[in-house]
Amino acid sequence: MSKREHWSGRILFILAAAGSAIGLGNLWKFPYISWANGGGLFVLLYIFFIILLGLPIMISEIAMGKATGTGPAGAFRALGGQKTPFRFVGYLGVATALLLLSYYSVVAGWSLEYTAKAIGGEFESIPPAKLEQLAQSEAGIQALQTKALKQEIAFATDSQKEEILRDSGLLQANLRDDEMQILFRNSAEKIPALLLEKGKADEWGTIFLNKVQSSEDFVAWRQEALKPLHSDTMFADFLSDKTKLITWHSVIMLITILIVAGGIKGGIENAMKIFMPLLFIIIIFLTINSLLLDKEQEGLRFLLWGDPSRFSAKSIVEALGHAFFSLSLGMGVMITYGSYMGRGNHAVKDSIWIVSADTFVSISATLMIFPIIFVYGMQPTSGGAGILFTALPLELVKFPGKSLFVFIFYILVFIAAITSAISLIEVVVTYLIDEKKMKRYHAALSAGIFIYLLGIPSALWISGFFTRLDFLVSNILLPFGGLLIAIFAGWVAEQKAIENEFHAKGIPAWTFAVYRFVLRIITPVLFAAVFGHLLLSAG
Ligand code: PFF
Repeated sequence: MSKREHWSGRILFILAAAGSAIGLGNLWKFPYISWANGGGLFVLLYIFFIILLGLPIMISEIAMGKATGTGPAGAFRALGGQKTPFRFVGYLGVATALLLLSYYSVVAGWSLEYTAKAIGGEFESIPPAKLEQLAQSEAGIQALQTKALKQEIAFATDSQKEEILRDSGLLQANLRDDEMQILFRNSAEKIPALLLEKGKADEWGTIFLNKVQSSEDFVAWRQEALKPLHSDTMFADFLSDKTKLITWHSVIMLITILIVAGGIKGGIENAMKIFMPLLFIIIIFLTINSLLLDKEQEGLRFLLWGDPSRFSAKSIVEALGHAFFSLSLGMGVMITYGSYMGRGNHAVKDSIWIVSADTFVSISATLMIFPIIFVYGMQPTSGGAGILFTALPLELVKFPGKSLFVFIFYILVFIAAITSAISLIEVVVTYLIDEKKMKRYHAALSAGIFIYLLGIPSALWISGFFTRLDFLVSNILLPFGGLLIAIFAGWVAEQKAIENEFHAKGIPAWTFAVYRFVLRIITPVLFAAVFGHLLLSAG
């Protein structure tokens, strides 16, 4: 085999595995749950779980697949004996895949709705009727007042600022000069926030809004001021449009079935070579753009320190669960992918690449979204479940090409989602082919239709059904699948096959001992602590 072929094989494996790992979990879910759990500590814990549990379990899954050359069920038997009870982990994986894909497909559908909206130019301007309606609404009036307030205060002189504060009873008689200076620094943010706190924002907002209203460019100003609110209501309207949600869910499942049944995966793999780098480039570009936009670095600060009041015992379980979700672990997907791995690949080194790429995309996604939320003064509803869709278009339309850029971005989200969806349905399809002796297209069709029907309640009751199902899958089923795999790889499986993977250039020999200790002891103890804590705090 020539050197070049060897490399393209190795990279293809990494691309396929990273394609499964990188998906809605990174772009949609991680920013959203980090937001809901108050950033900071949550993000730190997530990274801790990724390194401590995610990496060793990723290595285990890939090594098991590579060593046995078979999917989950076969891999457990080959390494643990024909009658090993661990072969049931395979069934758990199939059940988890069915449930996960049922709602994953619904969210993947959102990306198609947004590409359709981009084609319709819906992000470029607010239609006149909608604009009037927003401007009259309570939230709209408030958005306009706040924007007027911030803008005018940014231009005000220090003595005007002082007057506003005195009039509002916010200034004690004799503040020292330096204290005044502190208050006036970043005054465009701080003073409106103070006024809001004291219930004086309305009064001053009205005064400033009247002033802005008489200016020439008020029409354009109002368009701009209402865009963040428009973005939010657009998303909320879409979520209440059941027909659209079901339609997109159907389209996604249809595409997934066609790809898996037709075996056009070769095409997907080639496409990945183009789309994955493109996704990386766009994400890096948008992250830099957002960081530059956010002069106060509020987004970055939220990621690093956040709001501890939103952190709870449940947050720990969510950080743990999401480490598995994001890396596609705990279901046997990586065992399956590992089984196609070439001899030129190393489970350990490749795992490091996949885990790093996945974590990089997650962190970047938060850094491209959070700053926009702060700069535009958005108020994400439903715990922030829509921030990938509500925040980004505001910036995306500003680049040359306007809607085209929005379109490209959401198409990439869609592709990232589809490459993960394929890996999910493949778990079920492989099971049906191997154990039920079905034909591939038959298996893909039956699995697809079943998952489609299972997903309908998620499409209809987004908040209740959907979030509970996601909690069950991400935070219970996947981690427990992962725990069982860790116990199997650490205690039960024949060690030679896995140990071989640690005999690679650049991997010190002692790492295998650490790896095994983590699987055997740390993982079960950590699970007992985290879930024990959750049960205690819930009870
Ligand atoms: N890792 C995927 C994501 O982050 O979007 C989701 C996923 C795919 C989870 C495959 C589990 C899985 F087996």
